[in-house]
Amino acid sequence: MTENIILKDDHNEFKFPVVVGTENEKGIDISNLRSETGYVTLDPGYGNTGSCESRITYINGEKGILRYRGIPIEELAQHSDFIEVADLLIWGSLATKKMRERFTALLTDNALLHESLKHHFEGFPFDAHPMAMLSAMVNALSCYHPVLALPQNPREIEEAAAILISKIRTIAAFSYKMSRGEPFIYPKAKFSYAENLLHMMFSLPHEPYEVHPEVKRAVDLILILHADHEQNCSTSTVRMVASSGANLFASVSAGIAALWGPLHGGANQAVIEMLEKIHSGNMDAKQCIKMAKDKDSGIRLMGFGHRVYKNYDPRAQILKELSKKVFNVLNYEDPLLDIALELEEIALKDSYFVERKLYPNVDFYSGIIFRAIGVPKNMYPVFFAIGRLPGWIAHWREANENKKSRIARPRQIYTGPAKSNYVPIEQRPDRKP
Ligand code: ACO
Repeated sequence: MTENIILKDDHNEFKFPVVVGTENEKGIDISNLRSETGYVTLDPGYGNTGSCESRITYINGEKGILRYRGIPIEELAQHSDFIEVADLLIWGSLATKKMRERFTALLTDNALLHESLKHHFEGFPFDAHPMAMLSAMVNALSCYHPVLALPQNPREIEEAAAILISKIRTIAAFSYKMSRGEPFIYPKAKFSYAENLLHMMFSLPHEPYEVHPEVKRAVDLILILHADHEQNCSTSTVRMVASSGANLFASVSAGIAALWGPLHGGANQAVIEMLEKIHSGNMDAKQCIKMAKDKDSGIRLMGFGHRVYKNYDPRAQILKELSKKVFNVLNYEDPLLDIALELEEIALKDSYFVERKLYPNVDFYSGIIFRAIGVPKNMYPVFFAIGRLPGWIAHWREANENKKSRIARPRQIYTGPAKSNYVPIEQRPDRKP
């Protein structure tokens, strides 16, 4: 039996159906709210708004559960690899050996950049932020693959996905090389996805880059953990841009721009900057926590808190363990890890963080691992974007294939001036800057 929610005003009663998800999460379907009642809802930040029904990722923020297409993140982290996870997210089930080989071959075929696209790098200043380059270059891919940018059938989606997943890694590595004034290094077909990323970033023509197998695995695991997170800011951006009919590459480019912000994918960089500040002696861990609790300080404990998780982010748990493993195999020590552990210990006992259910999120430990591997800070969000790409593609596909989807166009409550008349320029009062 359909459950309904009754909404009453002074004169009328309105009934709205409840939509129930696989895990019994419930949403009130208010698609007829305005036409029936004249009201709209007001939900700044969309904390209470479901923008779509989705079959891709399930999160239970209270219990700290994350599943891609039904499979727990812990199982994928243990048994899978990034390319298998990417394929799973996009197509909805685990690939057979034959399917997997086909996708891998497509990725290899698409690893290089068109020579003219390569010249775009020369148009950027050498110190350009790699996220700006990434967003621009991914958008530019629309010009090189205009047909596949709007894929119409599964074969075209597969090819477009391979272009994006393979080339984003090359673009990322080339932007790093550009910033260092070093020659571009081309991918090798025999290398795994993560290994190729490290190879293109860190190899030099005269000295190859030897990478420990555990480091390759760590990078692959980080990409898996970032691969999707349902309707987060960047994914919602991708879906919103897609809703206008915009092509896949343009939609992903917008997603990269959204991810760049320090409250989202830029937080991993911000966490390390915060830890460095503590380490350099400008403040200690206790002072940092004190400032994060003071609303007037304008400081937050970066890498802590999450819109959905009101428990330990399961990805942060895995990354915390991974950081210790990577440090071990590299025989590496970093005072920033000790500071992070201390901050976590203080925060998790502090009533401010306990009452607000603020726990470490995925960004709290990822930067510490990147640092150990030698990835510079401004590339951390780039790794996040490479990881998140399969999720964006899966959501773009889901949104596009939904015959009921409409252009995303929220309403507002206007609070500006009431109707007023145009004033000739000589009669206008001074405006305070
Ligand atoms: N440090 C201190 N206080 C915090 C923090 C934090 N990191 N996060 C939230 N709070 C406080 C808020 O000030 C607010 O307090 P109040 O109720 O007294 O006003 C309360 O906790 C709720 O916070 P909101 O801002 O309403 O939570 P929201 O869901 O809007 O924001 C966000 C989530 C953006 C992640 C926030 O926790 C934050 O800014 N964290 C730091 C940045 C960060 O790590 N971002 C990465 C997120 S994960 C990702 O995108 C991959």
